[in-house]
Amino acid sequence: MTGDTRFISINGRPVKTPIVLASMAGITDADYVLERSQHAGVAFIGGYNTDEASRKASAQMQSGGRPEFDADFNEIATEIAMLNGTDIILGLNLRGAAPEGFVAAAKRFGNSVIYEIDAHCRQQPMIDAGCGEYLMHNPEKLCGIVSALAKEGVTISVKIRSGVVDDRNLAKMLWKAGAHILHVDLMDTGYTKVRQIRNVCPLIIIANNSVTNTDRMMDYFSHGADLVSLARGANLPNLQTLDRYIRATAEEVGWYNAPKQLCRGGDVRSLTFCCMPVKQCPLLPALETFKLSREEYLSLKQSSTKETMLAEGSHTCFGSLAFCCKSTTPCMFRDMTLKSINLPKNDYMALKRTLSEKIVAHIFKNA
Ligand SMILES: Cc1cc2nc3c(=O)[nH]c(=O)nc-3n(C[C@H](O)[C@H](O)[C@H](O)COP(=O)(O)O)c2cc1C
Ligand code: SF4
Ligand code: SF4
Repeated sequence: MTGDTRFISINGRPVKTPIVLASMAGITDADYVLERSQHAGVAFIGGYNTDEASRKASAQMQSGGRPEFDADFNEIATEIAMLNGTDIILGLNLRGAAPEGFVAAAKRFGNSVIYEIDAHCRQQPMIDAGCGEYLMHNPEKLCGIVSALAKEGVTISVKIRSGVVDDRNLAKMLWKAGAHILHVDLMDTGYTKVRQIRNVCPLIIIANNSVTNTDRMMDYFSHGADLVSLARGANLPNLQTLDRYIRATAEEVGWYNAPKQLCRGGDVRSLTFCCMPVKQCPLLPALETFKLSREEYLSLKQSSTKETMLAEGSHTCFGSLAFCCKSTTPCMFRDMTLKSINLPKNDYMALKRTLSEKIVAHIFKNA
């Protein structure tokens, strides 16, 4: 597995590790990122204010004792320059009430950074200014900002808090408006929310909140997260533990965020491990949910694996590894096939990942 395929690419660059530094106003700047850059792949600096409304709200919050940034575009440019040449993929977490400020940032900084719209802040002055969480309650305004940024051809992330509105609807709206990344503070909702969002859109998902141990990180990854982010717990020991663990998992398993089997609570990606649709099991209702007929599912798996090693496996249950289970499910027949074709288990899982990407792309093509 190469660095390009081990994890995921964002803003045109492969991430070195799927660990993200989340923004904290007044705290997360270039110096903060540099101190942690060894164990993070992506960082969102800010939040920065893009217009009068957010600047006023921020000043009010600062006078109430909160740390805040008061940086103009020139100062933000200095922060960006400090991270040039590092292997951190950089994003700006931006507050604002209208598209203009975001678009002005995109015109100034171009494709060098990701533009993250802060629809997360629930401080009252920010909400009263029509920024932060106000945008989640007014999704047409939020989508207006997304589509204005999309016209600039930049990579767009939206930072939201789950459980505030209907997350599935919002995720679909943001995807259709042109967003690329959904950065979700899961609060107390946990990994079930990740799976719900994973099942309705093909956006890159960053799972956030209390990712301070490997169990929680893996819960998010195995239910659909592409990356995890940390704010309050982003100290070096935590980052190092998570980074080392996920790098080792990527090598050992071959698919760092492999889903669970569908019948064990897996998300849309787990169709890659599913059998032929021949019995009453969670596959049939799942195919209905994803608007995939049995025939389409069969031919999609067969055509996507034709002339790959997953087409092998005449001694397996369904005559092809395309319908075989996850590597962690013990199976003598699959393992004998893998041995006979000299395919290590981690390479098998990497091929299953590619198959899952094709299935997911097909499902969301016309959704
Ligand atoms: C002091 C502080 C400032 C924050 N400022 C921002 C911000 O400007 N924009 C934003 O989207 N989230 C902001 N957040 C939210 C964090 O990015 C993150 O979503 C939240 O703290 C939960 O993640 P954690 O459990 O890893 O801390 C802030 C959080 C803290 C603690
Ligand atoms: S098809 Fe197989 S793997 Fe998928 S849900 Fe049914 S029993 Fe589980
Ligand atoms: S052969 Fe083994 S791995 Fe393949 S479908 Fe049957 S039980 Fe699953």
